[in-house]
Amino acid sequence: MRVDVITVVPGMYPEVLGTSILGRAIATGALDVSVHDLRDWTDDRHRTTDDYPFGGGPGMVMKPEPVFRAVGSVRDMHPARPRVVLVCPQGRPLDQGLVRELATEERLLLICGRYEGFDERIRTLADDEISIGDYVLTGGDLAALVVIDAVARLQPGVLGHEDSAHDESFSEGLLEYPQYTRPAEFNGMGVPEVLLSGDHARIARWRRAAAVERTAIRRPDLIESADLDEDERAHARTIIEERKRTQDD
Ligand code: ADE
Repeated sequence: MRVDVITVVPGMYPEVLGTSILGRAIATGALDVSVHDLRDWTDDRHRTTDDYPFGGGPGMVMKPEPVFRAVGSVRDMHPARPRVVLVCPQGRPLDQGLVRELATEERLLLICGRYEGFDERIRTLADDEISIGDYVLTGGDLAALVVIDAVARLQPGVLGHEDSAHDESFSEGLLEYPQYTRPAEFNGMGVPEVLLSGDHARIARWRRAAAVERTAIRRPDLIESADLDEDERAHARTIIEERKRTQDD
């Protein structure tokens, strides 16, 4: 997969893109990321990318001309037509479903803002707008790195087989079950007996039930769209109802 990023802070990227699993994904060619400095498409001595807002108010606004020029020229740097994504707090919230959708694209072009906002006309360049959550960052770059990281781990060959299977469990819309490693006894805390039993069918059932219960407790909002059988759904609803009752008391 090819990812292009247009940013005013290209210096934020090399360390993250060069390290650990992302570093390896890029080194092996599973992922090809190209970071472009928006200032290369400015035409004034100060390489200005922002300006005061019409109508007044605080903060600066990202100017349209450099972004239009940058998108036009970056688009032609690779033969595949990119899905153009504006990274901003007003966008569609990123979740694993959207990550899976983005991960199937041959090419993404991420436009990152700094400053208080974009000139509204910049939005016409984008196929999608994506937010990584309901909070405001100083710019879209950390959000772009989150998108890149999340789509990278779904590229073939980036993770081992085990980890890929693990992602499928998330796609069922549940939080992960509790995990333990050695020692079996630590600071007076043990490990659920079933995990030491060697009975793989029992372990799988325990993990599934633990994932459903944990999701019902921590993220009841996920339960209705999770991929559950009738018994699991009834059990999850009971947990949610009981917790509501005890909170109301
Ligand atoms: N830019 C600033 N905050 C952001 C957020 N939460 N998601 C995506 N881009 C952003």
